[in-house]
Amino acid sequence: MTVLLETQNVTKIHRPGTRAEVRALDDVSLCVEVGSCVAFTGPSGSGKTTLLALLGALERPSHGQVLFQGRDLRSDSDAELTRIRRKMGFIFQDFALIPSLAVWENITYPLIPRGMSTVERLKLAQSLLGELGLPDKTYERPYELSGGEQQRVSIARALAGRPEVILADEPTSNLDDAAAVELIAVLKKTHAAGTTLILSSHDPRVLAIAETVHRLKSGRLVATDR
Ligand SMILES: Nc1ncnc2c1ncn2[C@@H]1O[C@H](COP(=O)(O)OP(=O)(O)OP(=O)(O)O)[C@@H](O)[C@H]1O
Ligand SMILES: [Mg+2]
Repeated sequence: MTVLLETQNVTKIHRPGTRAEVRALDDVSLCVEVGSCVAFTGPSGSGKTTLLALLGALERPSHGQVLFQGRDLRSDSDAELTRIRRKMGFIFQDFALIPSLAVWENITYPLIPRGMSTVERLKLAQSLLGELGLPDKTYERPYELSGGEQQRVSIARALAGRPEVILADEPTSNLDDAAAVELIAVLKKTHAAGTTLILSSHDPRVLAIAETVHRLKSGRLVATDR
């Protein structure tokens, strides 16, 4: 098996050197293989979001290293990290949608730098919205949608770039049962098509689709279930 992402003794300290210092991750080493589905679980504050941010090259570790396709990201420039992030799709815990953009624009603005035309982007957004059960929300703004609908728009945005890996932070936390089941089906289908999935969740239905579940507690990796 080929390793896609790896952390070696990664520690992340927020506000270092102050009285409010937090060791959000403590000496975490793990591998994510190409095409696999791994999940992180653990109590609130255990470091799940922080670990996803480090794996997604959104943040840099305080100690240790993160490798993407065998390459140590430590010495990479911000421009290089941006290039690497384009291979990834992110589903954030707080959705991170842009309020001034319509739903279809939110889904496809990351494709503008890749030269996709407006018509192509609109078509792609409509097809993803259909798949995610939101065909009539194309022209709405994020604030006109429920939390669960916003979450699905953020999922559509992550899928739009056909990433090699999707990182999803608690992807069902704002969904009702029916929407969660639908979303899990979308994740499963994406995984079956070969995309690597890295998830954080408390939801047993999400954990059930993972081949490997890493358990975090107070920033430490305490168990790995396969
Ligand atoms: N930007 C930040 N500045 C300071 N402390 C932070 C920051 N981000 C996270 N932390 C702290 O780091 C620890 C880990 O946070 P993290 O968000 O990774 O946990 P989590 O497992 O995702 O929790 P939840 O299940 O509530 O989303 C927590 O104690 C949190 O308060
Ligand atoms: Mg979190």
